[in-house]
Amino acid sequence: MDKLIITGGQTLNGELRISGAKNAALPILAGSLLSETPVKIGNIPHLHDITTTISLLGHMGISITIDEHMNIEIDTQNISKFEAPYELVKTMRASILVLGPLLSRFGKAHVSLPGGCAIGTRPVNIHLDCLTKMGAKITVKNGYIHATAERLQGTHLIMDQVTVTGTENIMMAAVLAEGTTIIENAAKEPEVEDLAHFLNCLGAKITGIGSSTLTIEGVSTLKPKDLFYQVLPDRIETGTYLVAAAITGGHVKLKDTHPESLEIVINKLRQTGAEITCGNDWIELNMHGKRPKAVSIETAPYPAFPTDMQAQFTALNAIATDTSFITETVFENRFMHIQEMQRMGAKMTLKNNTVICEGIPELTAAPVMATDLRASASLVLAGLVAKGDTIVDRIYHIDRGYECIEEKLTQLGATIRRVPH
Ligand code: UD1
Repeated sequence: MDKLIITGGQTLNGELRISGAKNAALPILAGSLLSETPVKIGNIPHLHDITTTISLLGHMGISITIDEHMNIEIDTQNISKFEAPYELVKTMRASILVLGPLLSRFGKAHVSLPGGCAIGTRPVNIHLDCLTKMGAKITVKNGYIHATAERLQGTHLIMDQVTVTGTENIMMAAVLAEGTTIIENAAKEPEVEDLAHFLNCLGAKITGIGSSTLTIEGVSTLKPKDLFYQVLPDRIETGTYLVAAAITGGHVKLKDTHPESLEIVINKLRQTGAEITCGNDWIELNMHGKRPKAVSIETAPYPAFPTDMQAQFTALNAIATDTSFITETVFENRFMHIQEMQRMGAKMTLKNNTVICEGIPELTAAPVMATDLRASASLVLAGLVAKGDTIVDRIYHIDRGYECIEEKLTQLGATIRRVPH
């Protein structure tokens, strides 16, 4: 397993291009299962989770062409299997996203249950309940979900809890259902919106996009002509590099991003003392060499503060002036980074789902490892402001969600290298 070694103490400066959003690209790739004609998708990030999704589609017999710019063309004409096997689902929970489209278009799906997850139990009961209400027959046996349906029926659904992939799965299922489906308490994340726009480009009839009530009028087939869809920029990657600049007192300009989807993150960073200016597709952050002020946050579904930025702000608070409170409300166990940061000298205590952090001027390097994607990124950020060489182990988590992280950080002046194991 590769490791990253970060020598702390550099101030980050410079410009960077942001990649396409992993959490939009994954459902969009799954959504292309609904199209009878080939579709082309661009601005796809080069990440392990994308490779896993391509393997999953390949496993079904789907033909996939990838050009040198990572534009992916998907042609479902020769699909021969309607399953997502355990070997692929266990490395990427988002594989569950093929359930809705397979069932909707082909009337059958055989998908492994996603296993436990480092950040808490992540059940799929809402996905299954909603599909059942749409007329699917579902059994769960030997760790697999077996689902069949003659044709799904549009219905009125109220989701028990806001779920991102749950909303995406049901929206995709509803596209080819008979009649109209209304999803209430739908997730409003920008990635859900991007998927809805993509589905409408295929020929779906979705309205209420970006709100908590989605209305999907079922259509019988989707046959787009020459569709080339560009995936939305990654707001979490953007937020991570903004924090990297803020934590080191630096000055960066991030291009090809989407400031609108980062409103609350930008507001919080302004509270730390950062000067931030935005254009249509860029964000510039200047910390003027100052140590950040601590900020308290509480995570919740969009448009509130994203759980996927919680760990990175915890790293920032570790070296900030003042005391902060970080409350996690989306995933009960998303605090694996706290212990590791404490090993780097951070003064943090965890009480239920709140981290109380007393900022200190500097962390000290230590070998650390993380068990999930965003926690790993937060340890890299902590390494940027630690005295000495921080070794981050198990970075395959980072490679699942950050394209070329060491190259991008090096471009901004960080001292970071990857050591193969
Ligand atoms: C997605 C994102 C992930 C992000 C999360 C929350 C993708 C591929 N992943 O994950 O990066 O951290 O949203 O913004 O887009 N729940 C249930 N039953 C269900 C479904 C969810 O109880 O059937 C619960 C979960 O346990 C969790 C909460 O709902 O506590 C929200 O989870 P959800 O929005 O579904 O997360 P994901 O879609 O898995």
